[in-house]
Amino acid sequence: MAEAQAKMALGDKNLELPVLSGTVGPDVIDIRKLYGQTGAFTYDPGFTSTASCESGLTYIDGDQGILLHRGYPIDQLAEQSSFMEVAYLLLNGELPTKAELEKFDSTITRHTMLHEQLATFYRGFRRDAHPMAIMCGVVGALSAFYHDSTDITDPHQRMVASHRLIAKMPTIAAMAYKYSVGQPFLYPDNSLSYTGNFLRMTFGVPAEDYVVDPVVEDAMDKIFILHADHEQNASTSTVRLAGSSGANPFACIAAGIACLWGPAHGGANEAALNMLREIGTPDRIPEYIARAKNKDDPFRLMGFGHRVYKNYDPRAKVMQKTANEVLDKLGVTDPIFDVARELEQIALRDDYFVSKKLYPNVDFYSGVILSAIGFPTTMFTVLFALARTTGWVAQWNEMISDPDQKIGRPRQLYTGPAQRDYVPLGKR
Ligand code: ACO
Repeated sequence: MAEAQAKMALGDKNLELPVLSGTVGPDVIDIRKLYGQTGAFTYDPGFTSTASCESGLTYIDGDQGILLHRGYPIDQLAEQSSFMEVAYLLLNGELPTKAELEKFDSTITRHTMLHEQLATFYRGFRRDAHPMAIMCGVVGALSAFYHDSTDITDPHQRMVASHRLIAKMPTIAAMAYKYSVGQPFLYPDNSLSYTGNFLRMTFGVPAEDYVVDPVVEDAMDKIFILHADHEQNASTSTVRLAGSSGANPFACIAAGIACLWGPAHGGANEAALNMLREIGTPDRIPEYIARAKNKDDPFRLMGFGHRVYKNYDPRAKVMQKTANEVLDKLGVTDPIFDVARELEQIALRDDYFVSKKLYPNVDFYSGVILSAIGFPTTMFTVLFALARTTGWVAQWNEMISDPDQKIGRPRQLYTGPAQRDYVPLGKR
């Protein structure tokens, strides 16, 4: 990392701060010694200008609309790779050889079963529980079942925990769905692919054979790839922050799931589809565009805008293409897709969206595909969590292996009362 200096003057103090350069992307000013030397903190709510860590996993150029995993463009991975290969890439840094991929695939496959007692755990939830509520609970509970992979100082245990999480997430997600519809849980079938197995556990029933549709399997695998990792987003930062205290990986991923649930993050694809359904027909689009532009109306066009992308989200391009293919091949004609396409065109021409650089994000089309496959909207964020688990565990491993890693402890700009004396109850 080449070092330059940034000059800063604060009162009568002149300071030189190191400037660090990554492989690509903006330089960062290293302010680690700022407080020690000046007694001042920096203020950056929402971390809009702050790099919280060093990472070699994922790179985003939001202005250009570029997303790279370990250097590989997301569209190339989505078109040519598989979710298992991308998971290996994220965890290990390089694309696997054929033998490495086979070994990884077989390791993951052999960890897909859940501890049998966990099935009883599900029965504690109400049938109408949101599957994300179940995910938070069950994934957090894994640390009570897999004690032999919670020692975070042991790299082998860390890898076992990572493999377990990637492998068990489809089983946990499918069981959350089965529980909500009152159908029996299905055990994993190790003759199927990662994605095929998930589809069977979700949509199959014990009374009949389930044949995995290759079109759906391929689309689902692409959706998983598109959601695998995304730099230091809110849920990933949550996983890192939780992990920075030394918390076990299952607890950290449960924290990530909780954060992902929010409508401004992973919950947006559910919200986007609900919005498209509410709009219903293309003639109502102008009314919703007007609401999104109205400062006094809290309504936002869901699936539009992104903290980092100020251009078309590269994942949204692949998603739109996949939506076309899936709907075509499944012979589904969904008016919601017409609404989505027209809404996108109108918004992309509208001055409000153009000037604020608001483009469709990954969530805009994913709901259309997931709904065509047969998932209820409540499962959308669950699928996101399933895929993002690979990124979370890779980021968590990277953090724990970083010798500079410290417990995350942001500071604050205090605006409450200054010190004052306690007033006894009778005198208030
Ligand atoms: N519809 C209408 N106006 C919008 C939208 C939107 N979807 N998104 C942003 N704006 C406007 C804001 O009102 C604001 O206007 P102002 O400058 O006049 O006040 C301006 O654009 C900037 O918006 P911010 O909220 O400051 O941008 P921020 O980077 O904090 O927000 C976010 C990003 C949360 C994603 C936002 O665009 C949003 O709420 N989008 C809808 C939800 C969504 O699709 N989330 C998915 C994100 S992708 C993911 O998590 C995988």
